[in-house]
Amino acid sequence: MTLTDQVVDSFGGDDRLSHVMRSLVRHLHAFAEDVRLTEAEWAKAIDFLTRTGHITDDRRQEFILLSDVLGLSMLTVALNGSDNATVFGPFFVEGAPEVPLGGDITGDAHGVPCWVSGTVRSKDGTPIPDARIDVWEADDNGLYDVQRDGGVAGRGRLRSGPDGGYRFWSVRPSPYPIPMDGPVGELLAKTGRGPMRPAHIHFKVEAPGYRPLITHVFAAGDPYLETDAVFGVREGLVTTFEEHQAGVAPDGRELTGPWASVEFDLVLTSGGDH
Ligand code: BEZ
Ligand code: FE
Repeated sequence: MTLTDQVVDSFGGDDRLSHVMRSLVRHLHAFAEDVRLTEAEWAKAIDFLTRTGHITDDRRQEFILLSDVLGLSMLTVALNGSDNATVFGPFFVEGAPEVPLGGDITGDAHGVPCWVSGTVRSKDGTPIPDARIDVWEADDNGLYDVQRDGGVAGRGRLRSGPDGGYRFWSVRPSPYPIPMDGPVGELLAKTGRGPMRPAHIHFKVEAPGYRPLITHVFAAGDPYLETDAVFGVREGLVTTFEEHQAGVAPDGRELTGPWASVEFDLVLTSGGDH
């Protein structure tokens, strides 16, 4: 009996955990054989994982970042979520301030004003009123509010209206790098991989009778759409952000300088337990 078989057989149960562990061991051993893993490389890997653990705390999750850059987070989303779902990322904050429909979440976030609107609807097109929508985004310095001093900015919670519509003011999103000051950043730098994510706005949408949706709208034409550091781009999420000159916006607001707008429907899949 091979060593691999011995280890596989040691997880002999019929339960899901035993099944998962048998498969993990098979793939892990095949991987070590494939690369002919040296003892020095094994020690380096242990050191890498140890440092990943040491830098992780309740504000920073380097293991999830590792999963993200390995494409494992996106693969898990694709295996389980709907076709318009993408990665969650580390910058969601529970309990963001509520804003009315058409309100402004900008705070002290830098950037060109952007009117974001659309409809929350089901796959068959039925509008979904009163859905809870969390939004969050980085400003044009590439930082989320939680990465800099100051209050809540570029973040808020709203509800879709009676016709399923939603709308708010924020700033046009910009591309930004994922956190590079830890072991994951070191790995990307050593392997010639870029840290950038294409410009996007995050959404988390919940409504009774539907599965929660975690997604982004990505800006069409962004130079990093093909090389997202965490592989989160899906075709249906890439949307044109229209550029406008000074003038009157759809809600009657008068803009004295350039502004942008994007229309993006949030499509929910029925199911779920609330
Ligand atoms: C984000 O989009 O906020 C993000 C996602 C994955 C890793 C780092 C950042
Ligand atoms: Fe993000």
